Amino acid sequence: MSEQEHVTLQKIISLTKRRGFVYPSSEIYGGWEATYDFGPLGAEVLRNIRNLWWEEFVTKQPDIMGLDGALISHPRVWEASGHVESFADVMVEDLVTHRRYRADHVIEESTGIVADGSSPQEIDDLIVSHKIKSPAGNPLSKAKSFNSLVEVQVGTVENAKTTAYLRGETCQPIFYNFNLVRESMRKKIPFGIAQIGKAFRNEIKVGPFIFRTREFEQMELEMFVHPREADIYFDRFKMWSLEWLKSIGLNSERLRLRDQEFKERAHYNKIATDGEYNFPFGWKEFMGLHYRGDWDLKRHGEFSGENFMYKEEETGEEFIPHIVEYSIGLTRLMFVLLMDAYKELDDRVVLSLDPRIAPYKAAVFPLVRNKPEIVEKAQDVYNTLLRLGISTDWDDRGNIGKRYLSQDEIGTPSCITVDYQTLDDNTVTVRNRDTTEQMRVPIEELDELIG
Ligand code: GAP
Repeated sequence: MSEQEHVTLQKIISLTKRRGFVYPSSEIYGGWEATYDFGPLGAEVLRNIRNLWWEEFVTKQPDIMGLDGALISHPRVWEASGHVESFADVMVEDLVTHRRYRADHVIEESTGIVADGSSPQEIDDLIVSHKIKSPAGNPLSKAKSFNSLVEVQVGTVENAKTTAYLRGETCQPIFYNFNLVRESMRKKIPFGIAQIGKAFRNEIKVGPFIFRTREFEQMELEMFVHPREADIYFDRFKMWSLEWLKSIGLNSERLRLRDQEFKERAHYNKIATDGEYNFPFGWKEFMGLHYRGDWDLKRHGEFSGENFMYKEEETGEEFIPHIVEYSIGLTRLMFVLLMDAYKELDDRVVLSLDPRIAPYKAAVFPLVRNKPEIVEKAQDVYNTLLRLGISTDWDDRGNIGKRYLSQDEIGTPSCITVDYQTLDDNTVTVRNRDTTEQMRVPIEELDELIG
């Protein structure tokens, strides 16, 4: 990472803390590694992204439905899914500091070789042949696999507690509920089930910032299809997911799709394509398109005894539906959107977020604080916008210029100033975040302009 890029990352971390987007979790107790809390503005941004995604991929689609599954499910779910056995990162330990690292990251950072998916033996060979040391310059231990599932003890009686797992990906409740959804909703394939929610992983290497955390949120869509249609849906989701990202304002030059190599793929994937963003620390994945074949339903069938065979009415053909998955990290997407929107223009910092994603759609200012008629009128405008359900900020501190700067920094698209003229003609000044242009607008037209 160049000095300049490092500075940008540090500025985002500091801005998002100072302005109420993202706080290091449990800070009063000294913090808790790789865990963050989302402040009032961060909570708004997350809610806005969730709603836009759900509206696009669920509400508007006749063949896609939503689900809200449990965080902790039967432990057999994670045996069937293959996570208990295969959801592991290979790691190495610094023999002096005893810090542990993801082996593929250490290798990639020191040699540029992509080692994700390599076995412990392959990692050991690479370490020896390339004389790789830890980031602190010390010798490394032999590589070992480390399971990423987060275990929890469930139950009230001390010696009768069951070990279960916090879900490692949101899609598993979608798979084991396939028959229930199909029957209760009277659906024929192809159809999709989507879910937004938390997932947990005991990540070895975390960060930077909210890029990789142990608790995060995913938005996942599983399309159940006939095997012959899998390609069509895979391509459809590639295009659709990119179009959606562009529609919410992401700069397409910092966006690319990259097909995963065989050894990078998770145990359940036949084909996998990553959506990557050009972060200051390189091109990194934030979205995945996966052709999971019949792995999931077949395994859940084998482990539970449930019959997941599907009979096509028209042809009488029986088969286990295949799955095409579109998965995107919500918290990682928020990070992408913040990085992408951050701009330093002349003397101001601007978060040029799409207005639908910005935490506030507008801010209302009384021009002065010592003229009660102006303050009252501004409060009326503010309360009207709130009642209309438009997320709006109020600011009466300092001069107007400073208030603009303060709103630019949190991405507020429109600043509304109530002034002396408002008392005469019921119009206000609306200043645009991106162009800084101002125009006079009748108060009754504000909701149309902003809402
Ligand atoms: N169901 C498939 C699945 O979970 P994945 O590639 O492991 O696939 C999908 O995860 C997305 O979830 C990633 O592209 C990323 O955006 C997000 N994600 C995964 N691990 C994460 C972590 N530790 N912190 C934040 N986001 C993560």
